[in-house]
Amino acid sequence: MKIAIVGSGNMGGGLGKLWAKAGHEVVFSYSRNPDKLQQLAVAAGNQATVDNMKEAIEKSQVVMLAIGVSALEEVMSAVGSLDGKIVITCISGLQPDFTGQTIGLATNLKVSVAERVQQLAPNAAVVEAFNITFADIIASESRGLGRSP
Ligand SMILES: NC(=O)c1ccc[n+]([C@@H]2O[C@H](COP(=O)([O-])OP(=O)(O)OC[C@H]3O[C@@H](n4cnc5c(N)ncnc54)[C@H](OP(=O)(O)O)[C@@H]3O)[C@@H](O)[C@H]2O)c1
Repeated sequence: MKIAIVGSGNMGGGLGKLWAKAGHEVVFSYSRNPDKLQQLAVAAGNQATVDNMKEAIEKSQVVMLAIGVSALEEVMSAVGSLDGKIVITCISGLQPDFTGQTIGLATNLKVSVAERVQQLAPNAAVVEAFNITFADIIASESRGLGRSP
């Protein structure tokens, strides 16, 4: 499966590496540092590449949104069509120090982040996942993810 990673930091980078190692075609995107994306693709292995966000999404069936909530509206206005795609979001509405309620949505809607993504991409299949999985767990060799019991 082709998976576009939008936001290739702790979460997007970690999940992308796991999926690439599991045989999926992962495309890393959305960083202020293109070198970081390239290094990530190299670390993820043969299946992983780098592209700009819109191109990465166009050629993928699955889109992993792993950005800060404050960037959500801007990113969603720039992604192009998400029609027919599976869109996974791990975006938390909490502040980085875990205080406060859902914040940062320019619309001030009283909906969850996943509901907001679905509103902005009505023809995508939006899935909220990994929100309560710390990036350290995803990166850890001792994690249970992806292993047979
Ligand atoms: N970390 C966790 O354990 C964890 C667990 C569950 C959910 N989450 C949620 O997952 C989402 C991603 O968290 P994360 O820890 O992966 O964050 P992160 O490491 O900061 O990754 C954010 C990504 O967005 C990119 N980005 C591009 N333009 C940006 C801009 N203008 N400002 C800020 N970032 C920009 C960053 O790129 P560059 O920095 O390379 O430029 C980076 O690749 C958040 O919504 C968080 O609440 C995190």
